[in-house]
Amino acid sequence: MIRKLAIDDVDKNLFRGKRVFVRVDFNVPIREGRVEDDYRIKKALPTIRYLMDAGARVILASHLGRPKGKRVDSLSLRPVAGHLSGLLGREVVFAEDCIGEPALKVVESLGDGDVALLENLRFHPGEKENDPEFVRQLGQLADMYVNDAFGTAHRKHASVYGLPLLFEDRFAGLLMKKELEYLGKVRENPAHPFVSIIGGAKVKDKIGVLEKLSSTSDRLLIGGAMAYTFLRARGVNTGNSLLDEESMDFAKDFLERHGDKVVLPVDHVVSDGSTVKVVSGDIPEGFAGYDIGPSTVELFKSGIENSRMVFWNGPLGMFEKEEFSSGTFEIARFLAGYREAERILGGGDTVSAIHAAGIDDGEFDHVSTGGGATLEFISGKDLPAISVLKDL
Ligand code: 3PG
Repeated sequence: MIRKLAIDDVDKNLFRGKRVFVRVDFNVPIREGRVEDDYRIKKALPTIRYLMDAGARVILASHLGRPKGKRVDSLSLRPVAGHLSGLLGREVVFAEDCIGEPALKVVESLGDGDVALLENLRFHPGEKENDPEFVRQLGQLADMYVNDAFGTAHRKHASVYGLPLLFEDRFAGLLMKKELEYLGKVRENPAHPFVSIIGGAKVKDKIGVLEKLSSTSDRLLIGGAMAYTFLRARGVNTGNSLLDEESMDFAKDFLERHGDKVVLPVDHVVSDGSTVKVVSGDIPEGFAGYDIGPSTVELFKSGIENSRMVFWNGPLGMFEKEEFSSGTFEIARFLAGYREAERILGGGDTVSAIHAAGIDDGEFDHVSTGGGATLEFISGKDLPAISVLKDL
């Protein structure tokens, strides 16, 4: 089990009056200057509140999007500062740059328990390049370091990889701690029977996760567009459904090795662009599958029943369209009510899907804030940002 020294493992008084650099993942969708989905921001609140309460001077830093080392106004974190102020019920001072005079001035103005947010780290090329000079400049701002950005833990970037090593006092935040605890259980020692549900569009993106989970899961339920590649590999006619041709050989080989655990859809919600219908078995020519059908929903539910741990990554259909949403939504609702198992969900699309289904993430044991980071972690990789934190 990976356990890193976290902020609540040390004396809370340690933080009083200290400038604490807190790397968060506020890479959230913003439209017309407004935060569209604040899930990741809310998940960082326990760490921010804990440090405020401890009397720290909290310096939040994040990336937003991929501005390629230049200032891009639409990727400014300013709207996030406003949104966060609303959530915390107090001012969050915004620094127009993450290094140099603007950042230093804002940090100097902070009193104990105050909070600042720095401008997008990726406006500087040094962030992605883990440039030592950029690391040094960020380091000037703080006395201590906290990483609560699990979603960015797979990147070897300055703020998550080079920077923490400057500080003797470097800690995991409370969100990071929770992510490691729950995803660590999935990865290292799942309770059995352990069921994995994997969806999404491309097999290629999930190969590492499928390999890992096939060795630990008792059942592997596969849905989403990627299921058509597996069905094709089994000789089922998939009509015009999306296929990941380059992963076809992997799919065949995977089914040969793990076919006894794999549960594939037996019926589908299909469309030819005008008619939407449910078909069992083969998908007719001219039609493509967009969701698992009602018999598959029942099959998946019985696959989940009696389990003691469930890991779900990836939607089971094109849930963004109402006519193709019921498979994903029904499984989400079933899982929300199935409290006999520990239920751990991960991946940006999975989170969007449960929110679209109207389910609060508090209904599950853990909903990861990571996308790529969650997949890499589950597949067994050592994530750079985690490797530089101290073991407990
Ligand atoms: C994410 O949204 O997965 C993280 O914030 C990482 O973003 P990136 O893929 O642009 O590095």
